[in-house]
Amino acid sequence: MTVSRFCQVLWTTIFLLSPLTLGEGISHDQVRRDRAHFDYVILGGGTAGLVIAGRLSEDPNVTVAVVEAGNFERNNPNVTNASALGLAKDTRVDWQYLSEPQIYGGNQSLIWSAGKGLGGSSLINGMTYIRPASAQIDLWPSLGLELNWTDLFTFSKKGEHFQLPSSNLTALGASYQSSAHGFSGPLSTCFSPHITTGDIHEIFNSTFQTLGIPPRREFDGGQLHGYGVQAVTQDGHADVREDAARAYYYPVMNRTNLVVFVNTTATRIIWSARDSPSGNAVASAAEVVSNNDGQVSTIEAGREIILSAGAIRSPAILEHSGVGNPSILSALSVDVKIPLPAVGENFQDQTTLAVSASINSTVVKQNFTGLPAFVAHVNLHDLFGTNTSSFYNATRAKLPQYAAAIAAQNGGASNASVQQRLLQTQLDLLFQTNTPASEVVPLGLANLVGAVFWPLQPFSRGSVHINSTNRTAPPAIDAKFFQFDFDGAMTVATAKFSRTFVTTPPMSSLVNGSTINPSFARVPENASDAVWLDWIKTASSYQPNYHHLGTCAMLPRDMGGVVDNAFRVYRTENVRVVDLSVIPLQVAGHSTALLYGVAEWAAQKIKGGMTV
Ligand SMILES: Cc1cc2nc3c(=O)[nH]c(=O)nc-3n(C[C@H](O)[C@H](O)[C@H](O)COP(=O)(O)OP(=O)(O)OC[C@H]3O[C@@H](n4cnc5c(N)ncnc54)[C@H](O)[C@@H]3O)c2cc1C
Ligand SMILES: *[C@@H]1O[C@H](CO)[C@@H](O)[C@H](O)[C@H]1NC(C)=O
Ligand SMILES: *[C@@H]1O[C@H](CO)[C@@H](O)[C@H](O)[C@H]1NC(C)=O
Ligand SMILES: *[C@@H]1O[C@H](CO)[C@@H](O)[C@H](O)[C@H]1NC(C)=O
Ligand SMILES: *[C@@H]1O[C@H](CO)[C@@H](O)[C@H](O)[C@H]1NC(C)=O
Ligand SMILES: *[C@@H]1O[C@H](CO)[C@@H](O)[C@H](O)[C@H]1NC(C)=O
Ligand SMILES: *[C@@H]1O[C@H](CO)[C@@H](O)[C@H](O)[C@H]1NC(C)=O
Ligand SMILES: *[C@@H]1O[C@H](CO)[C@@H](O)[C@H](O)[C@H]1NC(C)=O
Ligand SMILES: *[C@@H]1O[C@H](CO)[C@@H](O)[C@H](O)[C@H]1NC(C)=O
Ligand SMILES: *[C@@H]1O[C@H](CO)[C@@H](O)[C@H](O)[C@H]1NC(C)=O
Ligand SMILES: *[C@@H]1O[C@H](CO)[C@@H](O)[C@H](O)[C@H]1NC(C)=O
Ligand SMILES: *[C@@H]1O[C@H](CO)[C@@H](O)[C@H](O)[C@H]1NC(C)=O
Ligand SMILES: *[C@@H]1O[C@H](CO)[C@@H](O)[C@H](O)[C@H]1NC(C)=O
Repeated sequence: MTVSRFCQVLWTTIFLLSPLTLGEGISHDQVRRDRAHFDYVILGGGTAGLVIAGRLSEDPNVTVAVVEAGNFERNNPNVTNASALGLAKDTRVDWQYLSEPQIYGGNQSLIWSAGKGLGGSSLINGMTYIRPASAQIDLWPSLGLELNWTDLFTFSKKGEHFQLPSSNLTALGASYQSSAHGFSGPLSTCFSPHITTGDIHEIFNSTFQTLGIPPRREFDGGQLHGYGVQAVTQDGHADVREDAARAYYYPVMNRTNLVVFVNTTATRIIWSARDSPSGNAVASAAEVVSNNDGQVSTIEAGREIILSAGAIRSPAILEHSGVGNPSILSALSVDVKIPLPAVGENFQDQTTLAVSASINSTVVKQNFTGLPAFVAHVNLHDLFGTNTSSFYNATRAKLPQYAAAIAAQNGGASNASVQQRLLQTQLDLLFQTNTPASEVVPLGLANLVGAVFWPLQPFSRGSVHINSTNRTAPPAIDAKFFQFDFDGAMTVATAKFSRTFVTTPPMSSLVNGSTINPSFARVPENASDAVWLDWIKTASSYQPNYHHLGTCAMLPRDMGGVVDNAFRVYRTENVRVVDLSVIPLQVAGHSTALLYGVAEWAAQKIKGGMTV
């Protein structure tokens, strides 16, 4: 297995007789009866979309349609096989977008993975199930959001069905606290039964302790600093990967009020001729295109349209519907319905790299067996030591410059003082609390040892915008990776930490010292940041972490918000966005543990009750 492969691995009217493909278990008769008219039409059958579909259709009196561009993938071995990672990546279940050249990041265009199929990115992801740090969610109320950690934790646990580890797994390092898990939700989580065998978990443990990183027994309770074993979205008893369709759709697919259209691409919202009495735009239907023959049709929405096409596609659907930056829309001859320049801005993702080596075969007599399930979260002090305060001060002094650059490129979505406040909030959290700054994933896999890593709080702000009058074409994706030297400095510090990890006993005993990448020839022991950055941006092929978010941010409108606290798009009566694009700032952990909880919260709001 190559390092780059390993990096990848860690991260798959309906007018009646139209050829759109109906869901399993749904007859044409039923759709005919419904006359392609549903109360709720959900665009995108992915991670969040299926939570909404499952919860709304609990009420037999409402009808719900899901429109999904991909297919059913229930029995695709690449999305069920839990004994390997990354099987579905770069297959038909992956959109495999191509980004714009990253002009601050070696000018590379990056292949950008996102799941395609009922279940969305949960079909192809790395399964890691780690909630964000409580301190990160608890600053949301200060930004105008109504969600705090206590509530998110409750909603997130509502969705979870945690399976307790066997003694075999606890012997390999798995540990948990009951209070951090839910036990009666639809989503199965567990510790991977395929966890790497042997004593490597102890070698990681003592190496991290030498570097000042303490053991952590639980990562899902809002505190993340430390090293331990991570939970995954998986049914450990059946030994299959868990995805949103398996958790929230297949168990209820026989509901007659729930219809799924697969192989069907949503293109735009059709607006009612008349606005609401309060002056808001009213959606009446969704325009969709059959992937099979290109036929265009519409699905009427009696109550609401909910966009759940993910952070890359939901903003694109809004833009094709006339909601967005007027200059971007007019350039493509799209009539402006609602000027909202924040649509598609504020794109944030992390960058992933690895320090790796071959095993020292004198010491390690055979390849490692099993899958790495270990993780460490390190904070700013772990990375910068006695330089932490000066790094903080220097970064703080640059925030006005960063904020001005973001405001200058975001089409008027928000001004520099708003952006400075947001960046300051993130920076202070890193400096003043124990919030993790980087995730470091130690590994022993087959004949490789090392650490995959990514800084968690990038300051660069990219965008996704439509770039074609072709409504089924993907938008242009530009993460603007490494636009600000803060992101470079964080990556360098985490890379140094990771190489130190590999060269510190007892970890170093496993390593064939002449195979370490980056080598000490390429990046010497005391290399400058510039030398490290050259390796990071050019030689090492950094990758996106595919936790992209923020492009339909939940924030006050003058702070760059696209949706309000009810997930409703500003100036619309009945259009909401529920997917990772509403999350305004990057957080620690992995996105699904956050998103399943946020989607449960959204479902409650849409149903009109707020009881958890
Ligand atoms: C390779 C990879 C590894 C990852 N690893 C992890 C991990 O280990 N742990 C973790 O928590 N997170 C991980 N993530 C991230 C996580 O899976 C995603 O952030 C999350 O699933 C996104 O959910 P979503 O609902 O926002 O979008 P998605 O789940 O992507 O759903 C969007 C859906 O909309 C559909 N769609 C898009 N456009 C249209 C359209 N125009 N019409 C109709 N349908 C459309 C898509 O096909 C898709 O089904 C990973 C992601 C990837 C890609
Ligand atoms: C469904 O509607 C019927 C008739 O209006 C009503 O009697 C019933 O209580 C409703 N059920 C639910 C679950 O709301
Ligand atoms: C599964 O993935 C392999 C490559 O990893 C690919 O060759 C195969 O076609 C995929 N199967 C399906 C059903 O997509
Ligand atoms: C979180 O928000 C809820 C209301 O939404 C409130 O009742 C609760 O007190 C808040 N908790 C904290 C810790 O702020
Ligand atoms: C646990 O390990 C024992 C001994 O190695 C083995 O016999 C047993 O099958 C394992 N149980 C599980 C659930 O993996
Ligand atoms: C790490 O060591 C501590 C004791 O120092 C132990 O409690 C913990 O379970 C170990 N973690 C792993 C993953 O081995
Ligand atoms: C749905 O209906 C089919 C056909 O009647 C049946 O085989 C299947 O078990 C049902 N599924 C569920 C989850 O009830
Ligand atoms: C969706 O399209 C694929 C590829 O054309 C096809 O194999 C599949 O059968 C279709 N799905 C359904 C449910 O018809
Ligand atoms: C950082 O700034 C603070 C406040 O101005 C100051 O007290 C501290 O000494 C500075 N730290 C360094 C290392 O310069
Ligand atoms: C060790 O792993 C490598 C890479 O996957 C493989 O080529 C090799 O055959 C494996 N060796 C053994 C003894 O399994
Ligand atoms: C529109 O975009 C889709 C998706 O990229 C592509 O398959 C199709 O050929 C394009 N249509 C035209 C007319 O260019
Ligand atoms: C977007 O359009 C511009 C101008 O036509 C073109 O240079 C650029 O390559 C396009 N990007 C994508 C992703 O299609
Ligand atoms: C492998 O380990 C042995 C025993 O510790 C050591 O002498 C040797 O230098 C190591 N080889 C490499 C290439 O690191």
